[in-house]
Amino acid sequence: YNEIKAALLGAGTVGGGVYKLIEKRKSEMPSKVQAELTITKVLVKNLNKKREGIPDEVLTDDWQEILDDPKISIVIELMGGIEPARTYILEALKAGKNVVTANKDLLAEHGKELMDAAEEYHKDLYFEAAVGGGIPIIRPLKECLAGNNITEVMGIVNGTTNYILTKMTQEGMDFGEALKQAQELGFAEADPTADVEGLDAGRKMAILASIAFHSRVTFDDVEIKGISDITARDIKYAGEFGYVLKLLGVARNVNDKIEVSVSPVMIPEQHPLAKVNDSFNAVFVHGDAVDDAMFQGRGAGEFPTASAVVGDVIATARNMQYDCCGRIGCSCYKNLPMQPVGD
Ligand code: HSE
Repeated sequence: YNEIKAALLGAGTVGGGVYKLIEKRKSEMPSKVQAELTITKVLVKNLNKKREGIPDEVLTDDWQEILDDPKISIVIELMGGIEPARTYILEALKAGKNVVTANKDLLAEHGKELMDAAEEYHKDLYFEAAVGGGIPIIRPLKECLAGNNITEVMGIVNGTTNYILTKMTQEGMDFGEALKQAQELGFAEADPTADVEGLDAGRKMAILASIAFHSRVTFDDVEIKGISDITARDIKYAGEFGYVLKLLGVARNVNDKIEVSVSPVMIPEQHPLAKVNDSFNAVFVHGDAVDDAMFQGRGAGEFPTASAVVGDVIATARNMQYDCCGRIGCSCYKNLPMQPVGD
């Protein structure tokens, strides 16, 4: 088997999970992608910090070393934030590398620029982990549901706030204690304001709406209200009337007018979204052919998110192995005419 080499940018919770999961699946890679798959470099800020599960010799603090390494064909960006992640992804695509990212902040603001660059350089750009952690939702929306006119996408797309609201509802826990637990479990953002004020969910809804409605929806287009002023009384009141309080993202396309919002919503307790608890996420889609469909699973955390990232890495590796690039203008063998011999 040949060897496909990848580099990881960032070794935080998700980065560590991705490294460990690829190591765990090592012996199965030849049967999955007809190649060995190895992470040969991991970009970190601080070389002296110990990273559990990642050997010191693969660590580097030099992006150029990764960019200039022609053997690295997949870059997995898990640093988060806008810069330098944006520049690194654009440089990687330009240098002929495929990119997998989980960076919802970046995609919600500069998604079009990144997708255009991937198109221009004929490279893959996959981002399944950017929304819903381990739940397959990006590729299902783009591919499996492509035959639909999708009119509505509703989602519980932030694990931290769903965890907080669940603990407040079911155990009467106070807001601060529930947030502290979510942070300890590795669900929350570095600055949890992004979770509790609905910004993280807003970014994810912008990404979902862009894909579902084939439009450019950015973070600025989303109307956002978080859960920081929700009280135990609001939750109790909702419960008395047969409702459950959730931070809900709603994206609608009505007569080509797209509206996207994130806010605390009282959901009737019989609705499937009302039963999505703890750090679980769910995305509920309505399409004219499929009718209602709901995708649910673990929306945050080391291995659920690593599951989506590694799935993207495997998909990219398969494209490299089997399909060449499949794009118009490609000169791979699939596009070359067979020449008859003789005559
Ligand atoms: N902070 C995010 C959440 C992590 O709680 O859902 C996953 O994107």
